[in-house]
Amino acid sequence: MIGMLSNISMDLLICGGAGFIGSAFIRNHLKNNPKDKIMNLDSLTIGSNKDNLKEIEQNPNYTFIKDDIRNFETVSKFSQMSDIIINFAAETHVDRSIANPKPFIDTNIVGTYTLLEAARKYDKLFFHISTDEIYGDAETNISSSEEDPIKPSNPYSATKASSDMLVGAYYRTYGMKCITTRCTNNFGPYQFPEKLIPKTIIRATRNLKIPLYDGGYQIRSWIYVLDHVEAIESLIKNGKSGEVYNITAWNEITNKTVVENILKLLNKPLDLIDTVGDRPGHDKRYSINASKIQRTTGWKPKYEFDQALRETVSWYENNVKWWESLANEKTLHPQPWTIS
Ligand SMILES: NC(=O)c1ccc[n+]([C@@H]2O[C@H](COP(=O)([O-])OP(=O)(O)OC[C@H]3O[C@@H](n4cnc5c(N)ncnc54)[C@H](O)[C@@H]3O)[C@@H](O)[C@H]2O)c1
Repeated sequence: MIGMLSNISMDLLICGGAGFIGSAFIRNHLKNNPKDKIMNLDSLTIGSNKDNLKEIEQNPNYTFIKDDIRNFETVSKFSQMSDIIINFAAETHVDRSIANPKPFIDTNIVGTYTLLEAARKYDKLFFHISTDEIYGDAETNISSSEEDPIKPSNPYSATKASSDMLVGAYYRTYGMKCITTRCTNNFGPYQFPEKLIPKTIIRATRNLKIPLYDGGYQIRSWIYVLDHVEAIESLIKNGKSGEVYNITAWNEITNKTVVENILKLLNKPLDLIDTVGDRPGHDKRYSINASKIQRTTGWKPKYEFDQALRETVSWYENNVKWWESLANEKTLHPQPWTIS
């Protein structure tokens, strides 16, 4: 399986490509592989924005399909036409999953199952994008590796863990070709305003208080989105079927430090920070070991955290039009799990 798809022009079915990471993958892939064809299937739910792909909308090698990954007829049709199916489509906000788990179960579990069935029917490579959150809380000084137990703490991570297990079962039971990646927290341009970094930038720009759950002691491992999409590219070329790969850039930082750094970059006072009650089931620390992908593909993160954060803050400052209509009371809410 290693190298199976390298050096040939490909047709890719990208699911969830109108979201943050999927759109970064599409922009980057078409730039570096102009002969490849991309079909982007997205239902345009919360988190998505067609403007993320404005620059390639007219590209003849790009097709957009507005549909749901749970629609077997559509996903079958486009799976048949593709060499590889990459699944970015998901309900992705932990806070919303606490307020209402149902859409997470529908898309993340039933949707992944539907895609797996289509991939199985036409014997296609299924590339599943998962998250480090499925490992749950990591003890101090311990980083989870791919063989470690899965211990999700909230409905979002539980549905992502379920989808990972389905992928593993389809590999074992049906001998399907599949790869799963588990990446840490991404940041960069085009991230939906409900997530920590854009929310902090936008609220600070408007001189609104920045809510930090329980003082922001939680540690997350941050990766610039382009490093994530390059890691995926390296696995498309050199990954091994049936394997799971962790992806991290080893930037373990507390949420409080991230927020303080953003306020400093924006020349805003640190007393904008407002400690609010903790989120139920909140994991204290995520930490994973990504030596396997490095050994397998030679991939390494290129972007340095402080510089990438500076550029991300500048992007939001210079692209108010992109986020203005998305940044409403609901997406910027201080405790989103309290609203449904
Ligand atoms: N953002 C992160 O920090 C991060 C980290 C690790 C892994 N991930 C994973 O990466 C993937 C992409 O994350 P993101 O941050 O880009 O999310 P996002 O919320 O920005 O994008 C998700 C996309 O999926 C689409 N979608 C949702 N339900 C759908 C359905 N039923 N049918 C078709 N399309 C549907 C949405 O419209 C949206 O365009 C997710 O699987 C997520 O779990 C994200």
